[in-house]
Amino acid sequence: MKTSLEKRTQGLDERRKAPLLTPTDLNNAATRDIAASMNGVLADVFALYLKTKNFHWHMSGPHFRDYHLMLDEQADQIFALTDPIAERIRKVGGSTLKSIGHISRTQRVLDNDAEYVEPAGHACRAQRGQQDTFKHTADSPEESRARILRRATT
Ligand SMILES: [Fe+2]
Repeated sequence: MKTSLEKRTQGLDERRKAPLLTPTDLNNAATRDIAASMNGVLADVFALYLKTKNFHWHMSGPHFRDYHLMLDEQADQIFALTDPIAERIRKVGGSTLKSIGHISRTQRVLDNDAEYVEPAGHACRAQRGQQDTFKHTADSPEESRARILRRATT
């Protein structure tokens, strides 16, 4: 005779491994490919967010306050992209990032752990990071972000 717990967990393992019952006209391969591609974008967005915060936290100099606030605002905008991207991946039936380690293994944007970066380096490196993140399209980073958001919210 099965216990109450055994009855409640019966078939749980099979249900956990089953594909999501997400309505989509994509086949399994397309879902897998889109999720993998979008997880790369998501990892890059997280990496770019932390990179921007790194510059925000370590900013110094005569225009400290303006640049410090500008980078914080930019970081907020970058972070705001993460949830729509992740939920879009789930919406097509894919699985998304689960940890900092997963981000680290998936990101293409390079980290910058330097103790000091020349002022021009901040803008250039952040810009390069954005370009790397969105290089799979011919759009500008702003156009790409807007397109991703449009798709994520439809
Ligand atoms: Fe801050």
